[in-house]
Amino acid sequence: MSTIQIKDKQFTISIPEEEILQSVQRVADAINRDLEGKNPLFLSVLNGAFMYTADLMKRIQIPCEISFIKLSSYSGTSSTGEVKQLVGLNQDIKGRTVVIVEDIVDTGLTMQRLLEILAEKEPAEVHISTLLVKPEKLQVPLTVDYAAMEIPNDFIVGYGLDYDGFGRNYKDIYTVVP
Ligand code: IMP
Repeated sequence: MSTIQIKDKQFTISIPEEEILQSVQRVADAINRDLEGKNPLFLSVLNGAFMYTADLMKRIQIPCEISFIKLSSYSGTSSTGEVKQLVGLNQDIKGRTVVIVEDIVDTGLTMQRLLEILAEKEPAEVHISTLLVKPEKLQVPLTVDYAAMEIPNDFIVGYGLDYDGFGRNYKDIYTVVP
């Protein structure tokens, strides 16, 4: 399926599953090497990161924990700028090495807010792992230690990412047809 229709928009395949998984493996290799002995706690940001999280975690070979959180600020195809609160964090992260697992860093505002909230809980260190980053859209300074892929400033769906709730189930990534 090289083209899909979701509601009013057409999308065409831009990153096939095979390429995604190669990038995920590269990130996993780096984390396995860098965070060995630190027993990291991975915090997967739902909903968008569910597929990336599953493929990443299958490739992590160091002792670790995983937990799922929510912090959403997005509707339709443009960021609203409105940032909600963090839900679902049950662990005490004080003194821990935390790795945020996110689907995409777009403006970076969501990630910045999440970093602020986590900082209050006094972790030892926080790393960002994102499947995708849109460097042209970034509005805030962020150190993204583990970015699987950089993409242009286009709206995408698939592999966990949605357009108005639809499209998360596709195994490949699709870009909107202008
Ligand atoms: P930010 O706060 O602008 O960085 O937005 C981050 C969130 O917006 C991500 O976690 C996604 O849920 C969503 N998002 C950003 N770009 C896209 C896209 O191209 N497709 C689908 N969702 C996106």
